Amino acid sequence: MTGPVRPGPVQLGPDDLVLALETSCDETAAAVVRGGTEVCSSVVSSQVDLHAAYGGVVPELASRAHLELVVPVVRQALEVAGCSLAPPGSPGRHCAAVAATAGPGLVGSLLVGVAAAKALAMAWDVPFVGVNHLEGHLYAALLEDPGLALPAVVLLVSGGHSLLVEMTGVGEYRLLGGTVDDAAGEAFDKVARYLGLGYPGGPAVEAAARHGDPAAVAFTRPMLAEGLALSFSGLKTAVVHHVRAHPEVATADVAASFQAAVVDVLVTKALRAAEATGARSLCLAGGVAANTALRDAARRAGEEAGLHVYLPSRAMCTDNAAMIAAAAFVRLGRDGPSGLDLGALPSLAFPVAPGAA
Ligand code: KG4
Ligand code: ZN
Repeated sequence: MTGPVRPGPVQLGPDDLVLALETSCDETAAAVVRGGTEVCSSVVSSQVDLHAAYGGVVPELASRAHLELVVPVVRQALEVAGCSLAPPGSPGRHCAAVAATAGPGLVGSLLVGVAAAKALAMAWDVPFVGVNHLEGHLYAALLEDPGLALPAVVLLVSGGHSLLVEMTGVGEYRLLGGTVDDAAGEAFDKVARYLGLGYPGGPAVEAAARHGDPAAVAFTRPMLAEGLALSFSGLKTAVVHHVRAHPEVATADVAASFQAAVVDVLVTKALRAAEATGARSLCLAGGVAANTALRDAARRAGEEAGLHVYLPSRAMCTDNAAMIAAAAFVRLGRDGPSGLDLGALPSLAFPVAPGAA
């Protein structure tokens, strides 16, 4: 990620600790990771209950909640990792760098994490680095399986993004494809709202789908036949049209059929990407990767295709700060720290352009 000041790469060692903060949306998270791979602590405070009454994330409420939670969450992450809040030089274990998600995300929420991380970096006199949230998600699999066979295709499906990324080495990616309209998680959230299933939408649709027939409604599989582009807006509209035309249809059947269509498209495209690039592994990342139907289908199809399939734990799929710390370790070594004038970057894109090496 670009940042205002780059005094040069900072190579951290295998025993060095990075504290990272993640506040891009509705989770206040902090984690300490050792040597870029060992999670010493990972604390996530969810605001789900706060936003549930409104059926979605209310940005102003989210930033206020981050403000209240950021200090206790950081304190707990340091405590669990056995780290001191006092500056290096004093007795105890200390962090060698502090990172925060700089974007993409909600500007007011991002600012809380970025400001807190910069304050700690200044107080401790250690490097600060801003991390791209999407790059962070890519490290979920590597954090849990450091020996992951590369190159890997990562299907990154979250509430704001749906990307297919080739990971050729640590810190080396190529964007293979992405959604041309809604993200997969956004489609789950919108369909859940329309069906009156509540928030957050993904887990609600998954729960409803458990009692439904995935073959009950033959929903469209957008852009299935070719390429690596994804599209979910038409599928969401198809759900609305179907329910309007057939008001008697069982909600569980609609949820199961919608979920089956999303899974079918995602798995087909991920396998196509793996085949096109000669990948050895297939990984899932992002909140939607917590979906059991997607996990089961990806494992089955990937293994049939001879790929090593890695499914990160559900806690590592959804937003957390351990993945931000792992990405920070790599960014510090490759680009160096960000300047202390780095602000929130709500529209930050994926680190590389489509097709770039
Ligand atoms: O990665 P994430 O925690 O936050 C973002 O960076 O967006 O992803 C959140 C998204 C939401 O859209 C949520 O509905 C979806 O992930 N999600 C799921 C499941 N759990 C979370 N979607 C489908 N099935 C799930 N079990
Ligand atoms: Zn995320």
